[in-house]
Amino acid sequence: MSGAVMRAAVIHRHGGPEEFRTELVPEPVAGPGQCLLDVTFAGLNYADLHCRRGEYGGQPLPAVLGADVVGRQRGDGRRVVALLRAGGGYAQVACAEDAHTVEVPAGVSGEQALALLEQGATAYGALTLLGRLRPGERVAVTAAAGGVGHLAVQLARELGAGRVVGLASTAAKREFVRSLGADAVLDPGDPHLVERLGSCGVDLFVDSVGGELLRAGLASLAPFGRLLSVGGRGGPEDSFAVDELADRSAGLLGFWLQHVLDDRALFADVAGRLFELAERKRLVARIDRVVPLDAVGAAHRALADRLTMGKVLIDLRGPS
Ligand SMILES: NC(=O)c1ccc[n+]([C@@H]2O[C@H](COP(=O)([O-])OP(=O)(O)OC[C@H]3O[C@@H](n4cnc5c(N)ncnc54)[C@H](OP(=O)(O)O)[C@@H]3O)[C@@H](O)[C@H]2O)c1
Repeated sequence: MSGAVMRAAVIHRHGGPEEFRTELVPEPVAGPGQCLLDVTFAGLNYADLHCRRGEYGGQPLPAVLGADVVGRQRGDGRRVVALLRAGGGYAQVACAEDAHTVEVPAGVSGEQALALLEQGATAYGALTLLGRLRPGERVAVTAAAGGVGHLAVQLARELGAGRVVGLASTAAKREFVRSLGADAVLDPGDPHLVERLGSCGVDLFVDSVGGELLRAGLASLAPFGRLLSVGGRGGPEDSFAVDELADRSAGLLGFWLQHVLDDRALFADVAGRLFELAERKRLVARIDRVVPLDAVGAAHRALADRLTMGKVLIDLRGPS
């Protein structure tokens, strides 16, 4: 192999978490409008599981997954965090679009910046840009102990929600969600979930799970409420007839972070807002665990098995 090489977690075929191999591969080369980062930490996102299984289709193999990194930008040494729409994060060096790279303010740690940007921009964008949350409104958040969810709970509070309900599957997760300032916590498996949500009691239901939970969300909505999906299974039960919505004067919304990234000024604005809240400790990301590159497979397993709370990081600072 000629040229500079780096360590990366590579998959040669789609499949389970056992597919990751730590290998020496050529460093990426930055094209116009791109930059290289010496990565200190890479993040895990739920979408990485779908990519690993080949569920998003079309990804050439071998592949290095990973959609967000923090590190030093080559050339000027600035501390930056970047969202990588083409993957490549589980590696010592990543190639990022300049437009999707943000300088980390001095008052925010690299780990916090990384844990906040992808999932925080999703939570913030969903609540404000699409959900149009107004002060005093009642919000419910599913997977509320997760990467997106635990930030959505804090942001809903910060944005002046009148009541925030967090759904999470274990007692430990629910305790964590309550510690974030949720007014109430619920078990998504509770057979009386709709009753407990208070039918006609939620103005904005932010869901990242889909299926029955999305249905429960609709049943709990107040008139003029919004059912907002940021992710989930996307099966037939996630489809709604217009009549079902009209019966409640309800809105059905779907959010995709890509549309924030497509607008450079908007992305900078959202990142700035998140970091400003982080600097004031009004928004704190929980780091569930930090694993070495060799343990990416185990970390994927933990995320799939619902064992994580907050964000999982991969430490790339080891010897090359
Ligand atoms: N729209 C966008 O642009 C965008 C951007 C980023 C992320 N997302 C989406 O946001 C969601 C959260 O992503 P994340 O990375 O922050 O993950 P995460 O919330 O940290 O992890 C997923 C959580 O979903 C819950 N869950 C419910 N049913 C599950 C099941 N059958 N299998 C696994 N987990 C289940 C679990 O919480 P409980 O055990 O408490 O139920 C689990 O901890 C994902 O759907 C992701 O695709 C969307």
